[in-house]
Amino acid sequence: MRILITGGAGYIGSHTAVTLIGRGDQVTIVDNLSNSSMVAIDRIATITGVPPVFHRADVRDREAMTRIVESAAPDAVVHFAGLKAVGESVERPLRYYAHNLESTFSLLEAMQAHGVRRLVFSSSATVYGGGQEPPYAEDDGPFVSTNPYGETKVMLERILTDVAAADPRWSIALLRYFNPIGAHESGLIGEDPNGRPNNLAPYITQVAVGRLPEIIVHGGDYDTADGTGERDYIHVEDLAAGHAAAVSWVAEHQGSRSWNLGTGTPTSVIELIEAFRAASGRPIPYRIGPRRVGDLARSWADATRAERELGWRAERGIPEMAADSWRWQITNPNGFRTVEPPE
Ligand code: NAD
Ligand code: WQD
Repeated sequence: MRILITGGAGYIGSHTAVTLIGRGDQVTIVDNLSNSSMVAIDRIATITGVPPVFHRADVRDREAMTRIVESAAPDAVVHFAGLKAVGESVERPLRYYAHNLESTFSLLEAMQAHGVRRLVFSSSATVYGGGQEPPYAEDDGPFVSTNPYGETKVMLERILTDVAAADPRWSIALLRYFNPIGAHESGLIGEDPNGRPNNLAPYITQVAVGRLPEIIVHGGDYDTADGTGERDYIHVEDLAAGHAAAVSWVAEHQGSRSWNLGTGTPTSVIELIEAFRAASGRPIPYRIGPRRVGDLARSWADATRAERELGWRAERGIPEMAADSWRWQITNPNGFRTVEPPE
């Protein structure tokens, strides 16, 4: 199939591009490189032996998107592009609402104009912020998030559901990722956050490699087995395989449907730190600090719908996630930057 990937130079998009190319799909990527690097595109080509067609463009640019959709003539689109920093979204809500909604509207218009109506959308477990108890099943509302970033996912799920309901030619997969970590086993692509990481796994690897002094564990008094937050970490390669399964689904079905992409297994902050200690052989100092505003104590997936309907389930465990994250970090201590960033 011909697949257009927005945000395909980013963390999850680059792994998904490798998986889709690996199964024989023809991939076109559009990315403005606002949170990624051209090096990731080159590395996709190195891993697969097939350079993807690449357009450097902003998905919000309607003229550019119309041209790109026309020239790529995709059978389906996988839409990753967007802003994703939770803390920044609390400080700059308008920027997040405008960016994530505008980019999706622009994409939908370009698709509609060229008769492309199959879409796989990056949603998030953040939609389960309504006080429900884990494991979260796909129909467990109310769907609300604790932050504006997450609310853009709630709103876009709603909008896309309405689009599919209004016109039966549309087929839309809403994929709710839990906590993606890990990297491609080659160590050539991985997560490359700008500045100090917000998420736990890249923070741990930067402490292990000596770029940051210690981890502050956000809360040690939660109602969990060891008092620290529990999450459903999922290997980004499993996530990529989930996208491949969803692309096949949209090619064969109509309407819209949501799926959790998680393992169904919770892991605490301390357990994850210990896994990285074992994988890296490095000391990883940590200290228990106060709770982080907006954090849930516990979040993990009921992953049975994806297995039943997409024939997909996560295969990789925490040790493999830690080993692959570590390999990426140690072989690329400055991420995709080839020179040390200024302090
Ligand atoms: P990422 O920032 O690494 O990738 C996003 C890519 O989109 C980047 O390459 C960026 O340059 C590009 N981009 C952003 N705005 C753009 C625009 N207007 N036009 C063109 N390109 C643009 O993020 P990621 O972790 O790979 O996340 C991908 C998607 O998955 C996002 O929609 C994110 O909200 C969602 N998601 C991520 C996580 C996570 O923890 N990483 C969890 C749940 C959902
Ligand atoms: C995991 C655990 C923290 C950093 C976020 C978004 C969510 C989704 C995935 C996009 C929690 C603890 C963290 C640190 C810590 N993204 N922690 N010290 O918050 O589950 O989810 O990323 O959709 O929307 O909210 O992930 O990696 O930030 O935190 O103790 O320095 O690690 O408290 O328990 P989170 P995370």
